[in-house]
Amino acid sequence: MIKLGMIGCGGMGGAHMRRFHTLRHRVSLAAAVDVVRERAESVAQHFPGAIAATDYREILGSVDAVLLALPHHLHFSVGQACLDAGVHVLLEKPMANYEVACKELIEASEKSGKVLMIAYCMRFHPLVQRLKALLDAQAYGDVFQVSIWTEQLTRYPPDHWASSKERLGGGQLFSHGCHYIDLLLWFLGRPVRGMHMGTNFGTPWMEREGTSNVTIEFENGRLGYHFGTWGARGTRLRYSIHAHCTEGLLDANLSGGKLVHIMRGSEEVLLEAESGKHTENEMAHFLDCIETGQPPLTDGGSSLQGLRVIWRLYDAEQAGHIADLTGLGLEDV
Ligand SMILES: NC(=O)c1ccc[n+]([C@@H]2O[C@H](COP(=O)([O-])OP(=O)(O)OC[C@H]3O[C@@H](n4cnc5c(N)ncnc54)[C@H](O)[C@@H]3O)[C@@H](O)[C@H]2O)c1
Repeated sequence: MIKLGMIGCGGMGGAHMRRFHTLRHRVSLAAAVDVVRERAESVAQHFPGAIAATDYREILGSVDAVLLALPHHLHFSVGQACLDAGVHVLLEKPMANYEVACKELIEASEKSGKVLMIAYCMRFHPLVQRLKALLDAQAYGDVFQVSIWTEQLTRYPPDHWASSKERLGGGQLFSHGCHYIDLLLWFLGRPVRGMHMGTNFGTPWMEREGTSNVTIEFENGRLGYHFGTWGARGTRLRYSIHAHCTEGLLDANLSGGKLVHIMRGSEEVLLEAESGKHTENEMAHFLDCIETGQPPLTDGGSSLQGLRVIWRLYDAEQAGHIADLTGLGLEDV
C-alpha cells in the first residue's frame, strides 16, 4: 500500500478523487491538503483515517507520494519541497512556468531518487493509447496528418489564479494545449518547424490567448494541427483527434467515447471507452513506477520538450516568424 497525499483539492483534485476507488487495493489516501480547509476536509472525509491539513509541509513525513493539483505558479516550489523531502511526485501539467524551474525539478528528482511524473492524463486514455499503437504498427498505412480539437467554454472569475497570465504561465495553449502538443510529439516524432496564432478575441477574460491554432511540420513531412479554445459557446467536435493515414482516417472521438476507422465511406468501430479523463490509468502507471523504478512515460525530460515547443512557438509568434523546433522530439531528451 502506497500512502498518498493530495495537495490541492480544487477542480482537478476532485476529478482525481472520484476515480481513486479502482486503485484502493494499491494506494491509500492518507492526507488531503488545501489552503481552504473545507476543501481538504471534503476530500479527506471519503477516505477512512485520512487527515485534512492546510499546509502541505505538515504531511510530508507521513506519506510516500503526493499528487499535486495546484495553481501553476506553485508547481515548482511545492514539487521541489516534496522531492527534497524524499516523496514521489505526480505533478499536474504543465510541469512549471519557466524552463529553469522544470530543470530544477528534474534535478531534484534525480538527486532524491524519487519519481517525478507529469500528469498528462490524455496519454493514458484508452482511445489515445489504441490510436498510438495503430499508428506505430502502421495498421492503416502511413500517417500524414494528425489534427486535435478541444472546444470548451472555460471562464474563471477575475480573482482566480488562472485569470492571470503570470500565474497560469501563458494562455490556453500553455495551460491546456500542452496535453495536445505532448500527444502530437508522441504520435508524430521529431518536430521541424511550426507556428502558433492565438487570440483572446472571444475570450476577453483571458490575459493571454483563449483560442489557439498550432501547425507543426515533423520529419518525413508529416503535419500536426491543434485547435483549442476556451471560448466555445457551442461545439460539435468537443475533444476529437483525427489521424489521416494512407489507408483511411482514424477518428478518436474522446467525448463520444469511440475510435472509428473510416475508409471510403465504410466505418468500423475499433474501440469504445467511457468519456472522461481516465486518471486511474495515469495513477496506476505512477504506482508502477514507484514500485519498479521504471521511468514514467511522461517523465520530467519529455514533458519539458513539449513545453519548449510551446515557448518557441510563443516567441516566434511574437517575432512574426516560423519557429525552429528542431531538437525537441521526445527521443531527443
Ligand atoms: N489533466 C487535466 O485534464 C486537468 C484539468 C484541469 C486542471 N488540471 C490541472 O490541475 C491543477 C489544478 O487546477 P484546478 O483546475 O484544480 O485549479 P483549482 O483552482 O480548482 O484548484 C487548485 C486548488 O489549490 C488550492 N491551493 C492553492 N494554493 C495552495 C497551497 N499553497 N497549498 C495547498 N493548496 C493550495 C486552492 O485552494 C484550490 O483548491 C493545474 O495544474 C491544472 O492545469 C488538469
